[in-house]
Amino acid sequence: MGQCMDSRNANYELVGVSQNIRRIRELIGRVAETGFNVIVCGETGVGKELVVSNLYQRSNRLGQPFIKVNCAALPDALLESEMFGYERGAFTGAIRTRRGKFEQANGGVLFLDEIGDMSLPLQSKLLHVLQGGDFTPLGSEKPIQTDVWVITATNRDLEQDVERGRFRNDLYYRLSTIRISVAPLRTRPEDVPLLIDYYIKKYAQQFNETHASVLSPEALAKMVAYPWPGNVRELQNVLQRIIVLGEGEETLDGMLMAAAISPAAAHGPARGGGSSSLMRMLAADGGAVDLSDLALKKIRKKATNQVERELISFVLIKTGWNRSKASRILNVSYKTLLQKIEELAIVPPPELA
Ligand SMILES: Nc1ncnc2c1ncn2[C@@H]1O[C@H](COP(=O)(O)OP(=O)(O)OP(=O)(O)O)[C@@H](O)[C@H]1O
Ligand SMILES: [Mg+2]
Repeated sequence: MGQCMDSRNANYELVGVSQNIRRIRELIGRVAETGFNVIVCGETGVGKELVVSNLYQRSNRLGQPFIKVNCAALPDALLESEMFGYERGAFTGAIRTRRGKFEQANGGVLFLDEIGDMSLPLQSKLLHVLQGGDFTPLGSEKPIQTDVWVITATNRDLEQDVERGRFRNDLYYRLSTIRISVAPLRTRPEDVPLLIDYYIKKYAQQFNETHASVLSPEALAKMVAYPWPGNVRELQNVLQRIIVLGEGEETLDGMLMAAAISPAAAHGPARGGGSSSLMRMLAADGGAVDLSDLALKKIRKKATNQVERELISFVLIKTGWNRSKASRILNVSYKTLLQKIEELAIVPPPELA
């Protein structure tokens, strides 16, 4: 779960011209050197982690550890030992002493992702650490002093959670000296063309595609109007499909519909619907589209599966079935990729099997 960032290989550019993104860039510049506690809020896929990376990149802690903990990924007891560590023999199974993430992050940044999912008892413990700067690993008697810059992120409405007693008021105030709120992409459509441009170039380069496709004005307009419930991550996925599957725009409606109901779909069938790849897919079994079998939910699932199967197969082949590399390109966890491979019955070519 911890990671050290390598600024040579990664890309941290926060693309956008909207008021929201400009303001965030300015805030990052002002806050990065201060070490004030920062909380980054926003819907899934808006770029919270990217903002956190930018804070670290611009801070004087760059080069020191950057440790990330996903508070939603572990049950309470495990999260506690992950964060604070334990002494050998502290509990059955603690066969050796383990340093917690707080200790590992000393001198650097501790990024607590999905902080809104932390339990109340653990919130108290965290508050205590933040107040005193020291903590005691499980089963130890020696408090450890650390100097960490705590940055948090959440997609929950923490103020509401505070009101409802689900999140500690005092902890919330401690963590949110500076609050950076990343707006959903649908509220800043002016950023969509820039993001498209940026990621088309990036993926074309990544996949060695020379035909860095330029979208037609019509396709661009559809994408600007689309509400992007999965925000920038969803936009990335759609662009990857366009670039790597090389299928071009006739699949756009299908892709947007696969993710949600696209505005285009709501305004009537896709142009030339009879020959679109969606229609081909629906007709795949018998030749003609069976009108009695067009439940939207079912089709959506079918379309998603088809697109996912093609995309994942393509990336696996491009990476020589290197699944950890493929999972990074696809921006899903390794575990999710393995599940998908199994679910979608994707098999390696004989020479790699
Ligand atoms: N303004 C932006 N410019 C360029 N890339 C962006 C921008 N915003 C988000 N991205 C990219 O979109 C992807 C999703 O962003 P990120 O992981 O930071 O979202 P998140 O808010 O942490 O999502 P989640 O809530 O699901 O954890 C990342 O690959 C990120 O680099
Ligand atoms: Mg995130």
